[in-house]
Amino acid sequence: MYKLVAFDAYGTLFDVYSMGQLAEEIFPGHGQALALMWRDRQIEYTRLVTMSDPDPKGSKHYLPFWDLTERSLRYVCKRMGLHLDAASEKRLMDQYAKLTGFEDSLSVLKTLKQRHMATAILSNGSREMLATVVQANGLTPFLDKVVTIEDVRLFKTAPQAYELLLKNFPVQKHEVLFVSSNAWDALCAKWFGYDVFWVNRLGHPFEEIGERPNYEGKSLTQVLDVIQAHA
Ligand code: LAC
Repeated sequence: MYKLVAFDAYGTLFDVYSMGQLAEEIFPGHGQALALMWRDRQIEYTRLVTMSDPDPKGSKHYLPFWDLTERSLRYVCKRMGLHLDAASEKRLMDQYAKLTGFEDSLSVLKTLKQRHMATAILSNGSREMLATVVQANGLTPFLDKVVTIEDVRLFKTAPQAYELLLKNFPVQKHEVLFVSSNAWDALCAKWFGYDVFWVNRLGHPFEEIGERPNYEGKSLTQVLDVIQAHA
């Protein structure tokens, strides 16, 4: 029986690829490619920071996710030969701060709370950016905690990052259902020892290493079926 359902934030509750539309307005013909490369580079930076100094007290290369997001945007524009002026950078970053939630994010969290389940976000995001996006989407009343890796200054997929849930809630590993749409995150949460629900909205193949997630579905709503089945 699960006691805590913990969600990844970016890509899982909040739609990062919606950035492609604004990027397309600013750089016609390049929006989708920019959004994809931006996301990849952002995650790449989290890995460089974490792997190059996996000190339990935090990486000395640590920069908040917000800063990594901004710097990866700058890098990708340079790489694509696109001129990113200050106003466009601000527009893109402002939109990132207030990303739209997926259509079922709010209703799923609401239902979990009605069923007396503990709920959390566990994200690489910095505290302030998470607070803004959670608030903007009206999710605050339905989340017991927003847990950020800022507390360990090591990004997912470091085990110390996944472990934060066990430090923040009186639960054991097997009582946690971790939900992510990022296959790499689903894979590594499983490696850490959580049961995992992979939200596979686009019908992508799963990674070719590691174990498969315990559950897979096309939407967050299907998480409710898993909780129901284990009630
Ligand atoms: C998160 C990003 C990495 O941790 O998806 O929210």
